[in-house]
Amino acid sequence: MIDAKVKKYSGELEKLGINHKIVEHPQLKSVKEVQDYLGLTLADGFSTLVMKADNKPISLIRRDDCKVDFDRLKKIIGVKDLRMVTEEEFIGLTGLEAGTAQIYIPGTKTYLDTKLFEKEYLTGGSGSFTCSIRYKSEDLKKIPNSYIVDVTYIEDYVSVVSKIGKGKRILSGITPSGDGSLHIGNYLGAVRQFIEFARAYECFLFVADLHALTTVQIKESLQKSVETLILNELALLGDLRNITFFRQSDLPMHAELQSILNNVTPLGLLKRAHAYKDKLQKEMPEEEINLGLFNYPILMAADILLYKPDLVPVGKDQKQHVEITRDIAQRFNKTYRKNVFPLPEPFIPEEVAVIIGTDGKRKMAKSLGNVISIFEDEKVIKKQVMRTYTDPTRIHPTDPGHIEGNMVFAYLDFFGEKQKVEELKKLYQQGKVADVEVKNYLFEQLMQFFAPARAHYQELITHPEKVKKFLHEGAQKARSVASQTMMEVREAVGLANQYSFFQYQEG
Ligand code: ADP
Ligand code: TRP
Repeated sequence: MIDAKVKKYSGELEKLGINHKIVEHPQLKSVKEVQDYLGLTLADGFSTLVMKADNKPISLIRRDDCKVDFDRLKKIIGVKDLRMVTEEEFIGLTGLEAGTAQIYIPGTKTYLDTKLFEKEYLTGGSGSFTCSIRYKSEDLKKIPNSYIVDVTYIEDYVSVVSKIGKGKRILSGITPSGDGSLHIGNYLGAVRQFIEFARAYECFLFVADLHALTTVQIKESLQKSVETLILNELALLGDLRNITFFRQSDLPMHAELQSILNNVTPLGLLKRAHAYKDKLQKEMPEEEINLGLFNYPILMAADILLYKPDLVPVGKDQKQHVEITRDIAQRFNKTYRKNVFPLPEPFIPEEVAVIIGTDGKRKMAKSLGNVISIFEDEKVIKKQVMRTYTDPTRIHPTDPGHIEGNMVFAYLDFFGEKQKVEELKKLYQQGKVADVEVKNYLFEQLMQFFAPARAHYQELITHPEKVKKFLHEGAQKARSVASQTMMEVREAVGLANQYSFFQYQEG
């Protein structure tokens, strides 16, 4: 049911000639939750920021992946003081609940950031928590009393990384699920950042094979997928100078710390974890869910806390687990009145939050068969590229085509040469280049981009001793850090610590 308020607003938009569509969803508060629900990225939405400029209300509409340069905006408007309105002021001005801003407030000036117009459609607030509105971006210019300004910038992960600070430690784990092979979604969403991190920071990256036991219970499948994952990761990471890469089950400390953390973790915390809740909803009665899956967040907390990292880069779906880790760390520190564990931060770069698959609909995932592989035969990859979703409205190469939602161009934004891609986009929109030509270009670019990794992969697969050496070195380095933490943990809780005895009496 669409809210009466929203209907009225929709009528007003119509009067202004602003093309829009109401999209209903469950009651969701944050922009991020809405975008996640609708399967959009932050770059597909905008927010209306209501502010006071020298005490006069104004609003700025900016895309949700853009950060505002407030100083620049102040200069452009010509004011000294600029601040966001308080919740009460917002309610007073708009008559809406805080957080549900519509695109304009009659009687106030609206500034539109230029990056809005890089997207054909954008989703924004409707005045209600249960719907959003999809706008044709160009139509935002029809908002009365509106001005276009260029006041935002995009903070990509490279600049975020450079702000982390020197001497920081980064840790992440990858569960060998499926057959262990990586696709370009994994590369763009995870591996690439790690390579970037490793340029400046001390990194720990491990293959979480203990985690895989929750779902993979055939020995041969587990071994095969762990092997493939290790080869894929090593091939992509190349020079491991700053990366300690290891296999979780090479170290006993992960399971050991989990066992200790079990005792400071309340049941309620785990019951809220979505990995468990998902299983519960999907196919299984509670009695049959294995405890490994239920306990999985505690193992993950152990994985993280052993290495005391500052930052844990993960996909969106893992954010909750890092939050649970923080909770467990706090409980441990409090229970044993010792700050053994610093609290790690999750790190989720927005720009690459989710790479959509070749079907143009769902997240790229092996299980959905919508991937572009990295290490498969060229023929296989070519096929994957050729069946990639483009523009279904385009029947002949001479029809003007759409870039928006066109996955070939979405991938080219990452793998193509910028200038060439811009050229192709123009030609495509004018109906001057065929789909197959653009796809061929994507294929060539992918082959070129991954050529070093593919060569490295061949070398590793033919020289298993090199792989063993990497794993051995990684495990050794990881062990020195993990065993140090375990000494502190054992000490803090009162367990045996290097054949200690009679410590109580010795005081
Ligand atoms: P999933 O997240 O589907 O379980 P994996 O376990 O293979 O996939 O993921 C390994 C890493 O790659 C994770 O950090 C995950 O967030 C990232 N990743 C996987 N698929 C994508 C995607 N389509 N877009 C962006 N990142 C992805
Ligand atoms: N659970 C994570 C995933 O499925 C993998 C993982 C295990 C992990 N332990 C970790 C990630 C520790 C970061 C830190 O993607």
